[in-house]
Amino acid sequence: MTQASAQPRHILITSALPYASGSLHLGHLVEHTQSDIWARLMRSLGHDVKYLCADDAHGTPIMLMAEKQGVSPEQLVDSMREEHWRDLQAFGISYDHYHSTHSDENLELVTDIYNKLKAAGHIEEKIIEQYYDPEKNMFLPDRFLRGTCPKCGADDQYGDNCEVCGASYDPADLKNPTSAVSGATPILKESKHLFVNLQNFESMLKQWISSGSLQDEVRNKLKEWFEAGLQSWDISRDAPYFGFQIPGETDKYFYVWMDAPVGYLACLKYVCEQNGEDFSPWIDPDSDHEMVHFIGKDILYFHALFWPAMLYGAGMKLPNAVYAHGFLTVNGTKMSKSRGTFIKASTYLQHLNPDYLRYYFAAKLSDSLVDIDLNMDDFRQRVNSDLVGKVINIASRTAGFIKKKFNLTLADSMDQADLYAHFLSHHTQIAQLFEARKYNAAIRLIMQLADQANQYIAEKEPWAAIKDDSRLDEVHQVCTTGLNLFRALMTWLAPVIPDTAKKAADFLNTDLKHWHAAESPLLNHSIKAFKPLLQRIEADTLETIMEQSKEDLKAAQQTPVKGPLADDPISDEISFEDFAKLDFRVATIVAANDVPKADKLLQLTLDIGGVEKNVFAGIKAAYKPEDLVGRKTVMVANLAPRKMRFGLSEGMVLAAGPGGEDIFLLTPDDGAKPGMRVK
Ligand code: 2FM
Ligand code: ZN
Repeated sequence: MTQASAQPRHILITSALPYASGSLHLGHLVEHTQSDIWARLMRSLGHDVKYLCADDAHGTPIMLMAEKQGVSPEQLVDSMREEHWRDLQAFGISYDHYHSTHSDENLELVTDIYNKLKAAGHIEEKIIEQYYDPEKNMFLPDRFLRGTCPKCGADDQYGDNCEVCGASYDPADLKNPTSAVSGATPILKESKHLFVNLQNFESMLKQWISSGSLQDEVRNKLKEWFEAGLQSWDISRDAPYFGFQIPGETDKYFYVWMDAPVGYLACLKYVCEQNGEDFSPWIDPDSDHEMVHFIGKDILYFHALFWPAMLYGAGMKLPNAVYAHGFLTVNGTKMSKSRGTFIKASTYLQHLNPDYLRYYFAAKLSDSLVDIDLNMDDFRQRVNSDLVGKVINIASRTAGFIKKKFNLTLADSMDQADLYAHFLSHHTQIAQLFEARKYNAAIRLIMQLADQANQYIAEKEPWAAIKDDSRLDEVHQVCTTGLNLFRALMTWLAPVIPDTAKKAADFLNTDLKHWHAAESPLLNHSIKAFKPLLQRIEADTLETIMEQSKEDLKAAQQTPVKGPLADDPISDEISFEDFAKLDFRVATIVAANDVPKADKLLQLTLDIGGVEKNVFAGIKAAYKPEDLVGRKTVMVANLAPRKMRFGLSEGMVLAAGPGGEDIFLLTPDDGAKPGMRVK
C-alpha cells in the first residue's frame, strides 16, 4: 500500500500551445486530455502542480487573417483565446491558467533569453534570399507561396512541398511562383536574418537526450538529426509581422517559434506573480523543480533541440521530460472535413459529455508515438460497456438497498475485506502506469477489477438475499463492499472522467480527489441517494455529430467567403459553354424557416414562376426568416438536388460577403419577375 509522499514534487506541466488561427478540434483534445489526466493524477498524489497552457498568438497567418477580418491582430488573438479557453474548460481540461504568447511576461522573457544568447555569442547574422511580394511589400513564408511543382509539374502547389507527388524542394526552384496573398509574381530579395548557432549546443544536447528525458523512439529520431548535422536556426522575420520586435534591430521580429515555447515560462511567471510565489526556482538549473512538456510528434525538433538550446544558452534549467504522442485518426483515416470526421471540440460538446471521449482516448493512449484511432462504433460500444455497463453498474446494483433498508448508511464492516485488499494491492501499480503514461494498460487493469467487482455482486445476489429478513446484515455488508470497490475504481478513474467522478463523489458523500484516501474504506458512512451518473451513447448521436461537422463545411463552402479581390484572386477561367449551363432565375422567397438543429442554415421555399424549390442556405446568422418572406432574390435553378440531413436542397441562392453575419443575398431590381432568366 502506498503512503502519501512526504515531499511533494513541484511540477510544471504544459501542452503545446494551440495556434490562435483556428478552432480546437478533436485532434487537439488528444493532447490536452493526455496532459490533463497526468496533471490530475499528480495533484491527486499530493504534488504541487502548475498545469499551464496558452494561445500561440504570433505569426504571418494571424496577421493576414486579422487583416482579412478587418480587425487588429490583438483583437483576433483575444477572441480566439477566449474561444479556446471556453472549449478546453468545457472539456474538463484543468489548466491553472490559460495565457497568451502576446503578453508582457513573454516579451520580457524572450527578450532576456535573446540578450543572453547574444551576449554568449550564440547569435549570428546571415544575408538570405527569399521571395518577396512587391504588392503587399512583404516577404512570403513558404505556405503563402504557390506555383508549379518542379518535380511533377502539378499546378498550385506550396512553396516548399508538393501535395501531388510529395516532393520537398527549395522555394527558389518552384516554377511560376505566385503570391497567395496578393496574386502578384514575387521577386527574390535579400535580407539580413538572425540565427541561433545550434552546433554550439551539440554536446550539451547529446548529453541531455541520454538523460532519460525522452522516449526511446524520440532519442533514435534525434540521433538521425545529429547525423545529418545540426543547422543554424533562423529566429528573425522581417516586418510586417505580428510578433515581438527584436531589440537592437530595425523592423525585425522574433519568429513565432522563438517566443512560443518561452510562452510556457511566461504563463508560469504570470501565475507566480498572481499567487505571490517565487518564479526563480522554476528556471534555476540546480533546483529540483520539474518541467514536463506534452507535445505532438510533429513538433519534436522544436522541443528537443531548439528549446533546450535556448534554455541552456540563457543559463536556465532544461526540461525534465518532453513526452510526444501520435496523431488522431478517425475511423481509420486522417480526419476529413468531407467525411464529417474533422470534428470541432465545440460540435462534440453540443452533443456528448466530454468524459466519454476522455475515457476512450485514455483507453487508447500509451507512452509511444503511434497514432490513435477514434473508431466511432468502437467508441460507443466501449464507453457503453465499460463505463455504463461495468463501473456505474456496480453502484446502481447496490446503492438502492442502502437507501431502502439501511437509511443511506454504509455498514461498519465489509463482507469481503480481502476483495477490497486485493483491489488496493493494485493501487500503486495503477498510479505508476498512469505516471508512465501507459494509460491503456491502467484502464485495462481497472476494467479487469471492475469485472471482478461485478462478478462478486452477481454471486452474492443482494436482490435475492434482501427478501430474507435474516440475511439483512449480510446484504448491508455486501452492498458496503460493492460501494467501496466502486469508490476505489472511481478514485483511479477520477483523472480520466472528472465530471463523472464529481457526481460519484457527491453520491458517496466524499472526495475522490485524493489518491491515498481510498486506502481506508468508507464504513458507517452516510451516502446520498443514487442517480444515474452517465447515459449510454446512442448511435444516432454520433451520426448527428458527423453530419453537423459536414454541414459546417458545406455552409462554409456555400458562403462565398473572403474579402477584397487582392486576397481572393479570381478563379480559373471557364468556357462560355460552362457558363451557359448555369440557369440563374429570379425567385420570390415564399417561406423561410429556421432549421433548429443546424447552426447556419435556413430553409427557403422559392417560387420561380409557378415552380417551387426547396433550398437550404447558410444565411442564418445574417437574416431572420420573417424578414425574408416576400423578398426577391436570384438562384441557381438547375443545380442537381443534394440530399442533406434536413431534406433535399434543390438549388442555391446567390449571396456575397465573407460569411457569418456579413452575408448579403443578391436582390434583383424592381420589375424582375419570379422565373425570369438572369443573364
Ligand atoms: O504546432 C503548434 O500548434 C504550435 N502552436 C505549438 C507551439 S508549442 C510551444 F512551443 F509553444
Ligand atoms: Zn509534385
